[in-house]
Amino acid sequence: MKLGVDTPEIKNKLDELFSLILAEQSQVTGLKESNPEKKHLVEQYLQEYAKNKGRGFFFNYLSSGRGHGPFTEQIDESIKYDLIGGIGPNILGHSHPLYIKGTLEAATTDTIMCGNLLSYQEPAELTRTLLSSVSEKSKLRHFWFAGSGSFANDNALKIIWQKTSPKNKIIAFEKAFAGRSIATQEITFNPAYRQGMPQHLNIEHVPHFNHFDQENSLKETMEHLNRIWTKDKDNVCALMIELVQGEAGFNYGTKEYYQSIFKWAKERGLYIIVDEVQTFARTRELFAFQMFELDEYVDVVTIGKALQACGTFYTEELNPKPGLIAGTFNGSLAALRVGNLIIEYLLNGHFYGESGRMKQIEENFLSRLRYLSNNSCKGKIGYIGGIGTMLSFEVGDSSKSITDEFIKTLYKNGIICFSAGKDPYRVRFLVPTCLTDDHIDEIFRIIEKSILEVII
Ligand SMILES: Cc1ncc(COP(=O)(O)O)c(C=O)c1O
Repeated sequence: MKLGVDTPEIKNKLDELFSLILAEQSQVTGLKESNPEKKHLVEQYLQEYAKNKGRGFFFNYLSSGRGHGPFTEQIDESIKYDLIGGIGPNILGHSHPLYIKGTLEAATTDTIMCGNLLSYQEPAELTRTLLSSVSEKSKLRHFWFAGSGSFANDNALKIIWQKTSPKNKIIAFEKAFAGRSIATQEITFNPAYRQGMPQHLNIEHVPHFNHFDQENSLKETMEHLNRIWTKDKDNVCALMIELVQGEAGFNYGTKEYYQSIFKWAKERGLYIIVDEVQTFARTRELFAFQMFELDEYVDVVTIGKALQACGTFYTEELNPKPGLIAGTFNGSLAALRVGNLIIEYLLNGHFYGESGRMKQIEENFLSRLRYLSNNSCKGKIGYIGGIGTMLSFEVGDSSKSITDEFIKTLYKNGIICFSAGKDPYRVRFLVPTCLTDDHIDEIFRIIEKSILEVII
């Protein structure tokens, strides 16, 4: 695809620049302590930033813009493993050649952001790639960009409500996280995220799969669904679900669990929205709904994060009337181009399926966590779980205080991750696909050391 200006001279210079940038970034090869003379810089810089923002940061972290693979460098020259990837977007690892290539190519264009009024090839190509990755078995036929995962979810809700008006009740799931917009903060289960907010929507939450009571999970969910249906069947229009609940610490059910719920919904004429903002590209298939073989049921699917952009898939039947969904931005030309390159790379490489890289990473992490919990860290690690590159575990009594202390200790020892869940709290990794066995060996030496340091 021709993009921007591409004379032979520009092409040569871009190739040269690509190699120079990659070679320079590739020097970030391993853990490093901060330079004693620059140690104060991160805190000093963040102090002013935090003051301007009105809130401090969980980590004293400020990237220098240099990093390679799983490693990220800060302005004090320290280097750590990045196992959270900006809470999802950085799926391939720092300075991946495709990030550099796509961004340089986008720099040859005449503008930065593109949107719905005056289009470019980038959003069109990305839309084609996305639709061809879902269209075979599912009914999803259209895709519309949005500025954030929250807004992609807002669009999902609007599309449903327009179709089913005046019905408006949405069934959501306990422990769900759907975003920070005025609508999605109500789909989100945790009331702490909407303190003082007026309530606008008609949402009811039902229990999601319970990993610790798998046998009764479906029965419990069904009882709640049937209760809602009995009292409010004339007003229920859709069910909205994250198949792998990200903020809940990667809680997920079985194929049979989801198929039963989805069949129940379809028998009652309800639409099904699947929020894949966090799961997109990170499970054992490009979409979690494909992994659970739910293609035939889904009506609306939202994605974000690893795509480098966000948006909403929907069926022909749900194509909304003009004017309902729009917005200035599709995304930056660089992000849309790189998003396309990422998907093609993941689909053409051996990343998905039962023998794919995603499953290998998952098994590698889970088996090593289990080994620690049965040996040197016996009694110090609780729940271990996750899927693909989304992995989580509990430490100590799984309280907020011990989990935060452990995460800060991991940080001090060279690993960046984050928490998830609430009573119990979990340690959350969103790992990059570029990890090698040597990296994972070193990561587990740090995890073991940190557990032994914090959990007495
Ligand atoms: C499942 C899920 N849905 C929606 C969102 C909201 O996405 P954004 O932060 O891009 O608005 C998130 C963000 O973490 C998410 O994990």
